[in-house]
Amino acid sequence: MKAVLINGSPRRKNWNTVTLLEEAEKGLKELGFETEIINLYAQLYRGCISCFLCKKKKNIDKHICLYKDDLTPILEKSMAADVIIVGSPVYFGEPTGETRAYLERLFFPVTSYMVDENGNRISILNKTKPTAMIYTMNAPENIAGQINYPILLGNSVSAFEMLFGCSEVLYAYDTYQFTDYAQYEANMFDPDHKIEMRDKQFPIDCKKAYELDKRLGQMALANQ
Ligand SMILES: Cc1cc2nc3c(=O)[nH]c(=O)nc-3n(C[C@H](O)[C@H](O)[C@H](O)COP(=O)(O)O)c2cc1C
Repeated sequence: MKAVLINGSPRRKNWNTVTLLEEAEKGLKELGFETEIINLYAQLYRGCISCFLCKKKKNIDKHICLYKDDLTPILEKSMAADVIIVGSPVYFGEPTGETRAYLERLFFPVTSYMVDENGNRISILNKTKPTAMIYTMNAPENIAGQINYPILLGNSVSAFEMLFGCSEVLYAYDTYQFTDYAQYEANMFDPDHKIEMRDKQFPIDCKKAYELDKRLGQMALANQ
């Protein structure tokens, strides 16, 4: 059994998103999964270019984006995996650009434009694949709720749910952003509060990431 964990943060070591993915990876490894953390920002690629090759009748069963660039092997690994976990910081209320581009190209080839005789959308994939989004953000939980983050960020979770049959989400709020807040022009943040969140809340979020992935791994094993 295989799991891919996609890091949609440009920061590849020690920072929030990748740390949560590493915790998630532990849960999957304990269940015997072969795992890989893939750093999107190490690759050069673009989002969906609307070529519609994946929608051609001759290609519809391929389930993969046919435009070739650095993302191609990552998309292949994602589709071959039994579990997909995508972690992203929130940038301007959305996943990062690279995460978004990855999701467009993962989702579109398995998005059906076909309906049955009752007008219901026909699924392209007939096997459930457990998936999850892990989001990290500056916003505290109450502010994130007020500015509609659960709806904005929930779009990709809903797409995963619709296309792959199963999705969960974990939000890590009020994350620690700079190594030393004193060096930055950023007085809207209270550094002591951020340190407290880093030292008390973030370990709880790490535990949630571990538990989330253990749960998804168990689902994937049960689906076998
Ligand atoms: C370009 C940019 C835009 C950001 N926009 C938001 C935002 O809209 N809302 C928010 O809560 N945090 C925002 N942040 C903060 C990051 O989401 C947060 O620090 C995140 O935990 C960083 O993840 P990382 O440590 O894995 O890189 C932004 C950060 C950057 C660099």
